[in-house]
Amino acid sequence: MAENIHTQFHRFVAPAEKEALLGQRGIVLWLYGLSGSGKSTIAAALERSLHEGGHFTVILDGDNFRHGLNSDLGFSDEDRHENVRRVAEVARVFALQGVIVLVSVITPKKSLRSLARGIVGESFQEIFIRASYETCATRDPKGLYAKVAEGKIKQFTGKESGFEEPCSPDLLIDTEKIDPTSAVEMIKTLLPE
Ligand code: ADX
Repeated sequence: MAENIHTQFHRFVAPAEKEALLGQRGIVLWLYGLSGSGKSTIAAALERSLHEGGHFTVILDGDNFRHGLNSDLGFSDEDRHENVRRVAEVARVFALQGVIVLVSVITPKKSLRSLARGIVGESFQEIFIRASYETCATRDPKGLYAKVAEGKIKQFTGKESGFEEPCSPDLLIDTEKIDPTSAVEMIKTLLPE
């Protein structure tokens, strides 16, 4: 029995070997903030920049997850917790394969950010993408804020469902002041050489 386990251990390709193959370190860049704050825009621009720099990346986007793996979840506190837990577990798996993981999920509570950090471990970087509710409502890229104003969406983040601003994120990007190109350069400073 022990012999079999020993054999399997030797077949296992260690995370460090995968990182060496890819020429990068696995990391989770967890972008969070209100809907419309700019998370997806920055994640897409960051992925483009990293890809062109020879890096292997994956984007884990809240909206996409909610159409697939998390399609059974809504926006109660319990469901948001489960949503973040699952995204964090997937992010952890990718990071252990040496992938640069770009997460774009609202993650509205400090406890949820702690949950994600606890699951991912030391490769977790917390990046707060900040814009006020009013700014996001003006941008309203998905038309959601207009629907909220009409009372058509319940438990909306920043309205009926609270968003807790962080005390000390690894990085804060205020998208009312910083454009996506500058945001990308700021985030890239978090990557190991
Ligand atoms: S989280 O709170 O659980 O982290 P997540 O990022 O996965 O949220 O999903 C947010 C996306 O779901 C928004 O970008 C928006 O498109 C959509 N959405 C639909 N209903 C709501 C709602 N009540 N609150 C926030 N986002 C909503």
